Amino acid sequence: MSVHKNVKKVTTHTLQEMKVAGEKISMLTGYDFSMARIIDQAGIDVILVGDSASNVMAGHETTLPITLDQMIYHASSVVRAVNRALVVVDMPFGSYQGNSKEALSSAIKIMKESGGHAVKMEGGIEIIESIKRILTAGIPVMGHLGLTPQSIYKFGTYVVRAKEEEEANRLIQDAKALEEAGCFAIVLEKIPADLAERVAQIVSIPIIGIGAGNGVDGQVLVVHDMLGINNEFSPRFLRKYDNLYDRMMNAFQSYISDVRSGDFPNEKEQY
Ligand code: KIV
Repeated sequence: MSVHKNVKKVTTHTLQEMKVAGEKISMLTGYDFSMARIIDQAGIDVILVGDSASNVMAGHETTLPITLDQMIYHASSVVRAVNRALVVVDMPFGSYQGNSKEALSSAIKIMKESGGHAVKMEGGIEIIESIKRILTAGIPVMGHLGLTPQSIYKFGTYVVRAKEEEEANRLIQDAKALEEAGCFAIVLEKIPADLAERVAQIVSIPIIGIGAGNGVDGQVLVVHDMLGINNEFSPRFLRKYDNLYDRMMNAFQSYISDVRSGDFPNEKEQY
């Protein structure tokens, strides 16, 4: 039975309790007020204001170009819509990799100006000092390991990560370090399902997967992908819950046709 389904406000503490109780955590990305309102009212546990906004909202090829101010704009729109979900905001590329002081001031800016509840950062041991400094300021941090899109030019491709033993062992060490530092959860992206399950058993904080199988504590998808808005993106891990590309195309074409034919507006649709 899902005890935490009815909590009024989801906190990092709720997520920890859900892991202990064996209740799966649901997370979706959100970037704007109208969509976030529907996602929150549907009962989602976590809304991630992902830097995937760079792709799906701004049309960039990678997540690298999005700025701190642009993330704050998206996050503040989401926060205004949300009553229940925990809102986690991605720290964008370039806002935390320099040094821990810069990382802390970026995290503080996000919290102050967006009203978000937590930040997410990509990386393991190499950014642990920054994570610790942010945590010291009382800002909850979600980690992100496996395929980390901000490092796409290092990886070269978006293929599954940590298939080899050496990288898998490094990922386990990174997950342990994030837990020990005090992260409240970790996203694991595009890694083998058995490795993700092992990590979820080894660490006591919630593991949220995307393309990481069903042996973890929760799942996250990019909302535009699961709604089928982008019909050119169909990786194996993605379940499309609708085909909004086709449905929106039909609606737009019907509107255009009605305007052109003079059918819209009719008598009831005017003053
Ligand atoms: O930015 C994003 O949407 C993400 C998810 C894919 C986890 O980081």
